[in-house]
Amino acid sequence: MIYLKTNEEIELLRENNLLVSETLAEVGRHIRPGVTTKELDRIAEDFIRSHGAVPAFLGYQGYPASLCISVNEHVVHGIPSDKIVLKEGDIVSVDCGTFMKGFVGDSAYTFAVGEVAAEVQQLMEVTKEALYRGTAQAKAGNRVGDISAAVQEYAEKFGYGVVRELEGHGLGRKMHEAPGVPNYGAKGRGPLLKEGMVICIEPMINMGTRAVVFEEDGWTVRTRDRKPAAHYEFAVAVRKNGPDVLTDFSIIEQAIKH
Ligand code: CO
Repeated sequence: MIYLKTNEEIELLRENNLLVSETLAEVGRHIRPGVTTKELDRIAEDFIRSHGAVPAFLGYQGYPASLCISVNEHVVHGIPSDKIVLKEGDIVSVDCGTFMKGFVGDSAYTFAVGEVAAEVQQLMEVTKEALYRGTAQAKAGNRVGDISAAVQEYAEKFGYGVVRELEGHGLGRKMHEAPGVPNYGAKGRGPLLKEGMVICIEPMINMGTRAVVFEEDGWTVRTRDRKPAAHYEFAVAVRKNGPDVLTDFSIIEQAIKH
């Protein structure tokens, strides 16, 4: 069942995703060598609660934290830990969710810790551009496959591996609604996009092969070859004339500009 949202509902989803964007900006301000991912999680939880929302991930299917923080070869769903200390040259996917006013926010951004190797910088840039190219397809009359194909084609041009085991999703009163939004697929295939659909598009792109391993902690997904992966996520409302992006990366990028 795909729920179409009214304009009022889309504005509540926008409020949530703007709070997620502000939270990611606040986390980004604290990303530096020596900080633990547990400290970042605490900062996010305090920030979310002080803005009248609750962390949507905390307790979700037993998930034990407010953020997923995935460093280097960790693709997604990394559990914050006081044992994981960031160091110069790392890349860190931070995925954040909020719940307020009956709706969910869900977005992610990959940050660099200080200076990263040029090839890692390129992985981040290409993954973000793949997200933008997928997002551009989110208009009424297109199909989910148009988004999927745009992401896959762009990422694979660089020889990167597109993760297939996880995908984007509808977003609303629940964090995961229909339809699934894979990061690979064929143009013109899959569910029809309609005015009022809200979806999360979240490419997970590996520098090496697309193969991933699910770790023993029951959550963390890592690359099989242990090469780095990047992950960005937008919440997007589908409109007649094109995408209405509910997440705001400019807030994050302003915060981490030096
Ligand atoms: Co998501």
